[in-house]
Amino acid sequence: MSQQVTLTIDGHQVTVPAGTTVLQAAETLGIEIPHLCYHPALTPPAVCRLCVVEWEGARTLVPACVAQVRDGAVVRTHSERVLRARRTILELLHSAVDLSEAPDALAYGQALGVDPQRFADGERRHFPVYEDNPFYVRDYAKCVLCWRCVEACGDDMQFTYALSLGERGFHTHIATFFDAPMPETTCVFCGNCVGVCPTGALKSLEEHLLEQGIPPEHLSAEKRRRPPLEGNRE
Ligand code: SF4
Ligand code: FES
Repeated sequence: MSQQVTLTIDGHQVTVPAGTTVLQAAETLGIEIPHLCYHPALTPPAVCRLCVVEWEGARTLVPACVAQVRDGAVVRTHSERVLRARRTILELLHSAVDLSEAPDALAYGQALGVDPQRFADGERRHFPVYEDNPFYVRDYAKCVLCWRCVEACGDDMQFTYALSLGERGFHTHIATFFDAPMPETTCVFCGNCVGVCPTGALKSLEEHLLEQGIPPEHLSAEKRRRPPLEGNRE
């Protein structure tokens, strides 16, 4: 039998197996901790920090998606300090990327009273929309760099490694090797990256075309017009 650990979350005692994360332990109590990069099918990269919680005795806030429970720990998931941190993270994201198709981020923002305009004079991230294959489009102006697509493409699902990070700092973005068009990479068009993307940065070509006003009966013809093996990246 696995070792059991008892801790207190938001004033409620809970006993869970050792190795459980704070996010999972909170879930057993019905407490939802906001998260963006965490996906239950993927290794948590712990990059978005939206899931931070206050851990009594810890100097900094702690990411609940990777912090494992400890016996006697006292955790607060919705203290004022925590809420302020989450609000600021979302406001900073609003300043740089388009969250209009990120339902979770928008719902968290609404619940937290986020002001999308708070850092409106911040620099925005601009990218062309990559329409370089017959299956999906990539619009990195909507990307929050959560890493989910990279992990789904790599060790967590497909073992294809077509996606990774390009450049550094503010210009860091999800990229193919040497920014090659997708048909020239190892991509097998499994669609796993599209399935785990939380923001609409990755989208099926059909959905994209419909949004562009292409009538459903013209979708096939429109897709055939796109060169399948050559990039038509702007
Ligand atoms: S493209 Fe989507 S899944 Fe990939 S890092 Fe950006 S937001 Fe995350
Ligand atoms: S959900 Fe924990 S750091 Fe992103």
